[in-house]
Formats: sequence, C-alpha cells, structure tokens
Amino acid sequence: MDTNKNPDFYSSQVAHSQADLIAILGKISDNRFASIPFKYLNRHGLIAGSTGTGKSRAMQVLAEQLSNVGVNVFVSDVKGDASGFCVAGNEPDKDRSGPFKPHSIKTNYWSVGDRFAQLRFSVNEIGPVLMSRLLSLNPTQESHLALAFSYVKRNKKQMDNLDQFLSILDEMVKTNQKGISGSSISVIERKIIAMQESGLGNLFGAPFLDIGDLHGMNVLNLSNVRNNLSVSIAPAFLLQLLFNTLPEVGDSDKPKFAIFFDEAHYLFKDANKSLRDLMINILKQIRSKGVAVFFITQDVTDIPEEILSQLSTKIIFSQKIFTQKGTQRLKALSNSFPKSNIDVLEKLKTMPTGVALISTLNSNGNQTEPKEVRILTPTTTMEIVSDDVLLDSTDQALIRKYQIMVSKKNSGQLQSKNKPEQESQYKSKEKIIKKTIKNERAFSIWDLIFKFLLKLLDFILKVLGKLFSFVIFKPGKNLFKWLVKKPIRILWFLLFLLLVYAIVVNWEIIQGFFGLLKFD
Ligand SMILES: Nc1ncnc2c1ncn2[C@@H]1O[C@H](COP(=O)(O)OP(=O)(O)OP(=O)(O)O)[C@@H](O)[C@H]1O
Ligand SMILES: [Mg+2]
Repeated sequence: MDTNKNPDFYSSQVAHSQADLIAILGKISDNRFASIPFKYLNRHGLIAGSTGTGKSRAMQVLAEQLSNVGVNVFVSDVKGDASGFCVAGNEPDKDRSGPFKPHSIKTNYWSVGDRFAQLRFSVNEIGPVLMSRLLSLNPTQESHLALAFSYVKRNKKQMDNLDQFLSILDEMVKTNQKGISGSSISVIERKIIAMQESGLGNLFGAPFLDIGDLHGMNVLNLSNVRNNLSVSIAPAFLLQLLFNTLPEVGDSDKPKFAIFFDEAHYLFKDANKSLRDLMINILKQIRSKGVAVFFITQDVTDIPEEILSQLSTKIIFSQKIFTQKGTQRLKALSNSFPKSNIDVLEKLKTMPTGVALISTLNSNGNQTEPKEVRILTPTTTMEIVSDDVLLDSTDQALIRKYQIMVSKKNSGQLQSKNKPEQESQYKSKEKIIKKTIKNERAFSIWDLIFKFLLKLLDFILKVLGKLFSFVIFKPGKNLFKWLVKKPIRILWFLLFLLLVYAIVVNWEIIQGFFGLLKFD
C-alpha cells in the first residue's frame, strides 16, 4: 500500500482526532505507526504465526484499544497467557512504545467450570452442527442430531441442558421417530454422558449467558480445559449466540463487539462441510450485526481456504513450516497479499519475534499492501496473572448470577448449591445415564457383530482385488509393456497366438497323429 496516498492508515503522527477511529498496532519505523481503522474490523481478521512469535501480544494490543473506545471485547484465552488485561503493564522499550501509557482495564473473567463467572449456553441455541462437532459425531450420527433438533422445534420441546437432550433422544427412540436408528442414538448418548463426566457438561444449562452481560472487556480463561476441541468451540458457541440474537446495525465507525478466537485451528482441523458452511455463513452475516471476529492460530494449514478468504485484516508472524502441505499453504498465504516490494514469502520465514506483516482494507475495500510492523508492547501486563487477581477484577454480581452449580472435583458430577429442584434434576440425570448405558449395552453386541461382518466383507473384497491384480492385471500389463517396447515382438506374439489357436482347433487331429506314431 502506498502510505502517502492513505495517510489515515499509516501516519507519522497519531492525531488526537484519529485516536477513536484507528487501532495503532505497531511501528513501521521509529516515527511511523501502523494502524487499522476500527470500521474495517468487522470484515474479520487473522493473527497467525508459529509458537512464541507474538500472536497473543498483537491480540492484546488490538483488544485493549477496542475496549478503550467502548467496543465489547471477548477474548478466549486458551493457555492463560492473555489474562493480563486487569493489571497495568511495564513501560515499553522505545522501539515498541505507542501513544498510550501503561494502564489496567476493568475485565470480567469467565470459565467453563467452577472459576470466575461461568459461561453457559442452551443446547437448543447452539444447534446441531456445533453440537456434532463438540461430540465428534460421524455424518450418520450428525444427521440423527439434526433430526433431534428439528423434532424439538416441531414439537416445541425444551432442550436447554444435557439431561433434556438425553431425554429427547430417548423419547425419539421410544416413539419410533422416522429415520432414527437406536444404535446411532446410543452412541450419541454415550458421547453426551462422557462429555458430562469430563466436566464439559458445565457449558450447558441455566443460567444461560445473557449477551448483555458481556459489556466491556471479557476473557474466557480456558487454561483448566484439557480437550483441544472444546477450547476452540466455546467461542464458536458465543458466535452462534450473537448471530442468533443481535440485531442488524449496518455500517458504523467501529464494531459493537469483537471476538478473539484463540487456537482456532482445533475447531477447523478435519472439520466437515456443514461446519465450514455454518462458519462461513455466520462470518458473512455477522459483520452487518457489527461483530468483528479474529482467528488466532499457529497453523493456518488447518483453517479452510473458504474461511481464510473471509478474513480481511491479516497480522501474520513468521511461520515455521515443515510439511509439503504447509509450504503450499504458505505460498498461497503470501500470494493473498497484494503485490509489493516486500518478498512476503521470505519475510514469513524470517521475521523476528514481535514483528508481523500486516495488511487490511483500504477505503475502496481492497486489500492494502503488506507492511512489516514492530508490534507495540501491550499497555496491560504480559505476565500470567494469578486466579485471585482475576477473581477480584470480575464483577461479583456476575459471579453470583452464573455460579449456581459447581462441579465436584474429579467426580464430574454436578452438585447443587442451594436449589431443591436442582437436586431432583441431578437425580433424574443419573437415572437417564443408567438407562442409557443399559440400552447401549444391548445395542453394542449387535454393533460388534455388524462391525465384524463389515470387516470380513472388506477383507474378502480386498483379497479378491489383490488376486485379480496379481493373476491377471499385473502380468497382462507387463506383457503389454514388453510387446510395445519392440514392435516386432507384437508380430511374433500374434504368430504365437495363431499357433496356439491352430493347435487348439486341430487338437483331435494332432492327438490322432501322435496315436499313429505309437509303436506296439
Ligand atoms: N509486541 C511485543 N512486545 C513485547 N514483547 C513481545 C511482543 N511480542 C512478543 N513478545 C515477546 O515474545 C513472547 C511470546 O509472545 P506471545 O506470547 O505473544 O507468543 P504467541 O505467538 O502467542 O505464542 P503461543 O503460540 O505459544 O501462544 C512474549 O512473552 C514477549 O516476551
Ligand atoms: Mg499465545
């Protein structure tokens, strides 16, 4: 991008009047800042780079500035290393200092489980595609889940928590709903129970997240969640919720809401088409609701091309790529930047920590030329902050509102704190679990027999295929090769075939001739 022609993107001085229009991400040189207009952020973005290159710091810098101008921010913090918003940072080195002084930001911390304010969703709100992804269902099981969601909608049933989810699935089997196979439902139920027992069940059920409670800066601390997929799916749930509930707002000078989606590659790795389609649809439509989504990933190779093409702002750190596929994707990524005098591919391999190539949109809506940018040091701390400090920062009213059920350590069981109806809810859940496990055992024998027969059929077909290949196909191919190498051989071969034919046709005469030669 020609910075002289677009002074509002890269200015040598940041005028006060611009401070609430642009995010200042870093320095191009000692006295030139690199910035992105807030109004383009709802065209979404990508922060990518190998581990330790500075992604979390870039996210922190951008999130701080969004929060400073009144945008509601939601950061998913997988490792707990982006939790420092509530504590002021140190004075930065000169080469990374921006126009802002170190300061703290009032932040609410959320968790999936028993710390801070608890994030909870309704199963029904999340929908079949994301639920299938969370449960790692295969296409057949996913189609069953879609049937369950439409059954709930048709019959105006409630399916907010996992108990209700299990009951609905049971009910569908009992009432012989069309297209439902008991064994598939049994597998789904088993996965739901496993999820419940892993503690992830805490993600579902009342009190549900009210997006009105996500004012200001919010950090979802996922450092206690071990499952890779679930850490990346929680923000996807939020995205779905925002998509379902926010009204259209049209164009504005800054987003209403910004979501930073850490470790996004886990969500998309081996994702099926329905998940990709859902996310593309959400990304396309949610921008008119004023929501900016930033995906943060170590591995761009796991983010599908169709998703990458929806992300307009690119903050790309150096990439250590070792695989063939990775090299190809790196080339594709470098080609996705407009032409410039920077050797993008080379930069992507060699830039030092905390330096990124940045490209965004210009006023015509085109991608700007990439610039090599030294990212500012965040104004809040880069240190890992203790849980006590995070708890102190969090609004106590929020903690009380959402922390009704706590999980018993290691047991994964839900323990009700004060309400008697939750006690009975828990008992009914236990009943359902036991019943489901019983059903599952009954189905599992047939599952085993069926699986064995399928494996046997597969084996027989493989052997036949190999035999065909060894006895007919390979020798035939070799003979053909041998013949066409020297065309005279074809003539000899045809003569040989003629001879064989003559022998076969005249076999009786030949036999008789040999009979005559017999001497008594
Ligand atoms: N803008 C910056 N200002 C100051 N220090 C930085 C900056 N960017 C990176 N660093 C230094 O590099 C370290 C790693 O940065 P960061 O945690 O952002 O990496 P990351 O890409 O998020 O790594 P991971 O993939 O492991 O999460 C920081 O702890 C800090 O010491
Ligand atoms: Mg990080």
